[in-house]
Amino acid sequence: MIKSKNKNFKKWGYKENSKKLYSRTNVHKNFSEKDIDVWMLGIVKIKGDERILDLGCGDGKQIIAFGKKLTKGGKIIGCDISNELLKKAEEKAKENNINASFLLHDINQPFSFKDEEFDFISSLFSIYYVKNPLKVILEIKRLLNKKGKLFIAGPTPNNARDFWELHSKITNKKIPQVSLERGTRIHNTFIPLIRKYFRNTEIDIFKNIVHFPSSEELLKYYSSSLLLEESSKNREEKKIFLDKMKREVEKFIERNGAFDIKKEVYGILAYK
Ligand SMILES: C[S@@+](CC[C@H](N)C(=O)[O-])C[C@H]1O[C@@H](n2cnc3c(N)ncnc32)[C@H](O)[C@@H]1O
Repeated sequence: MIKSKNKNFKKWGYKENSKKLYSRTNVHKNFSEKDIDVWMLGIVKIKGDERILDLGCGDGKQIIAFGKKLTKGGKIIGCDISNELLKKAEEKAKENNINASFLLHDINQPFSFKDEEFDFISSLFSIYYVKNPLKVILEIKRLLNKKGKLFIAGPTPNNARDFWELHSKITNKKIPQVSLERGTRIHNTFIPLIRKYFRNTEIDIFKNIVHFPSSEELLKYYSSSLLLEESSKNREEKKIFLDKMKREVEKFIERNGAFDIKKEVYGILAYK
């Protein structure tokens, strides 16, 4: 399914690695000023008996957050292209007693669900990997019932900008075009599309600061980022970037006590 020869898929397609996703999620959990789930659940009110579809569910972070709000009649389905992540999500859902099921599915492809099957569709940090945003937005609309709602989260163009500049400085390279385009895709592509095809689009921005207490923690985050991955395909070169980053961050931490990355995330809530 993901071995498409389509050039556009190669550019946008992304099957997450479970260790890397875990590493980034953990950094946010341990060193962020604010909890993103609190922000998300403040915007998306789950009634309890809803049928929810989570696109690009990864290892189940939002399956757990939304799932905990469901009552007996409610159900959540997580979909992802990574079987490995779906298995982890399934384990977590079982541990948390959540009525969830999981689907190995590429969201670039239409679903076999009937029209208006869901009350709520979510996609956090995932939808900007799709190759044809219009097709995906229209498929989401088809799957939502008349009062159905959509919630999407992803980076604003300002997300982690200082860190990107530091990366540029130490690598002596421009930010890769694909990273730039992905980082602005919610702003440039998804918001206009959602405004066009949905009603009552509400946009919120979640501002957070991640305080890295040591260069080791920052390097875990950096080495699990797509920014590093897309900046070089060469292992040795990546190692040089990591060493340089370590030195820069150590200098900074010595002077300031911690190294901060400013995160900015859009939350878009829209109704069919
Ligand atoms: C950054 S992770 C986010 C996971 C989760 N929503 C979270 O916030 O922790 C992006 C997820 O989207 C999935 N993904 C990327 N392209 C996809 C596609 N075409 N169809 C389904 N899932 C996809 C990846 O495998 C990965 O699990």
